[in-house]
Amino acid sequence: MSSTEPLRVGPPPSRPVAEPAGPRHLSQENWARARAMVALYPEPRSALIPLCHLAQEQDGWLTPGGMEDVAALVGVTPAEVYGTATFYDMLHTEQVGTYLVSICTNIACLLGGAADLLEHAESSLGVNAGGTTADGVVTLEEAECLADCDRVPCVQVNHRFVGAQTPESFDALVAELRAGGRPDEIPAHGTLNRVARDAGLTAEPARVASERAAMAEAQAQRGPAAEVGAAGQSGGRG
Ligand code: FES
Repeated sequence: MSSTEPLRVGPPPSRPVAEPAGPRHLSQENWARARAMVALYPEPRSALIPLCHLAQEQDGWLTPGGMEDVAALVGVTPAEVYGTATFYDMLHTEQVGTYLVSICTNIACLLGGAADLLEHAESSLGVNAGGTTADGVVTLEEAECLADCDRVPCVQVNHRFVGAQTPESFDALVAELRAGGRPDEIPAHGTLNRVARDAGLTAEPARVASERAAMAEAQAQRGPAAEVGAAGQSGGRG
């Protein structure tokens, strides 16, 4: 850089994105969804994370082929996609089980018995945290605070809260997952968005109202303790 050239700060300028030839790995349907996602953003590379989730939704994890397609769509290299994905806990660049079971061991959950629960889970599943059971059904994960500190120890399956668990209820939960899971409550791993955004940065009011009503109903079913926690959370999280 010459001494007269101004110092550049901020992200590197976007490279022009060549029109991608077509999917090498993504399904035609997901390729079309991906193209629509890219169109939502002023800069194609801004769609990188949503596209990673889309590719993960297809395969259950972010495969090399999926990363290649994402790279082609946003005009970066597959290595850049990989480098970005490895920064985020919710993106998996190695295969995980059908169900990703996350046990929080942060402070509130630790005080509520998370260490004992994790030890029990490792023993009953026969894998250490980070491992996948031999049948490929469960990947056990030790997680940081999952933001549900009023129900400890907090457990998620495929990033959906399943409530505080005891060793006994944990085993029952795993048995239920092995028997087919809770399809209405727990989607396949990688599925984060229940409502796909399909136009700009807006959402259909009726869909928003429907989602909020469902959330309120789920909250009511959790009982008074959840309401106390929710009130505290709404104050704490702004
Ligand atoms: S400390 Fe476990 S959910 Fe917050």
